[in-house]
Amino acid sequence: MTSIQQNDLVFNDSINESMLLAFPVPLSLMPDGWLSPTEMRILYTLAQQTHGPVLEIGAWLGRSTLAIAAGVRDSPNIPAFDTCDFGLTSIGEWSERLQESFEPYLKDVENDIVVRSIFQTGGSIALLIDNLRKANLLKYVTSIIRGNALEVPLRNQYGFIFCDTLHYESEIRTYGAFLNNLLADGGWIVCDDVISEELGSILREYIDFEFLVYSLPIDQYSKFAVGKKRKSLLTVVD
Ligand SMILES: C[S@@+](CC[C@H](N)C(=O)[O-])C[C@H]1O[C@@H](n2cnc3c(N)ncnc32)[C@H](O)[C@@H]1O
Repeated sequence: MTSIQQNDLVFNDSINESMLLAFPVPLSLMPDGWLSPTEMRILYTLAQQTHGPVLEIGAWLGRSTLAIAAGVRDSPNIPAFDTCDFGLTSIGEWSERLQESFEPYLKDVENDIVVRSIFQTGGSIALLIDNLRKANLLKYVTSIIRGNALEVPLRNQYGFIFCDTLHYESEIRTYGAFLNNLLADGGWIVCDDVISEELGSILREYIDFEFLVYSLPIDQYSKFAVGKKRKSLLTVVD
């Protein structure tokens, strides 16, 4: 018989905000990024409960990476955690990899961390490692992989995936089958910027979800979809 896991109770018909764990990392140690406090709690809660392994696609400076690594640290079984990013180190690489101009960032002083992350020796991955080290969380990241997630070597399957590269329908279609192959039956996936069923229904074309819920109803600044992949009838359960 399948036991009901804690995360099944937190994320089911909707996100039960009162059951999200408190976020334990001091905010002063959290890098710049776009994740809201609710989103950090969601990543921390899932990482703390998963059997893993865990995969992050799109670490940038590590705001989400630190939230997941803290969950891994506080998990009873300390799962393996791989993270992957383009790790951009030049304007040329930015334009080529992200297919967008870097020009607006050079004019936008408020976003100057974006410019610094490109020109930092070692690029954004160097800042990511530094941010993890300062929070004493570097040892909870098994592999930091620089490159295109679609091309680099990864494990066969993951029990929890956080994907921060899905902003539009075209991106969901680019990564959909890839994510489905990597996600274990009964595994969890969090997708940033899949804000509602409008985009979530496209993700459902690739992944058979037991449930897929959104964080916007509990936090107007939050843009996560949280899904649990259905266990296939052939999966042996404990
Ligand atoms: C929105 S940022 C991530 C922000 C980060 N998760 C945070 O919490 O601050 C998206 C990142 O995804 C990376 N990225 C986009 N497509 C990728 C791919 N196919 N493989 C690896 N990294 C990718 C970019 O380099 C960028 O750093």
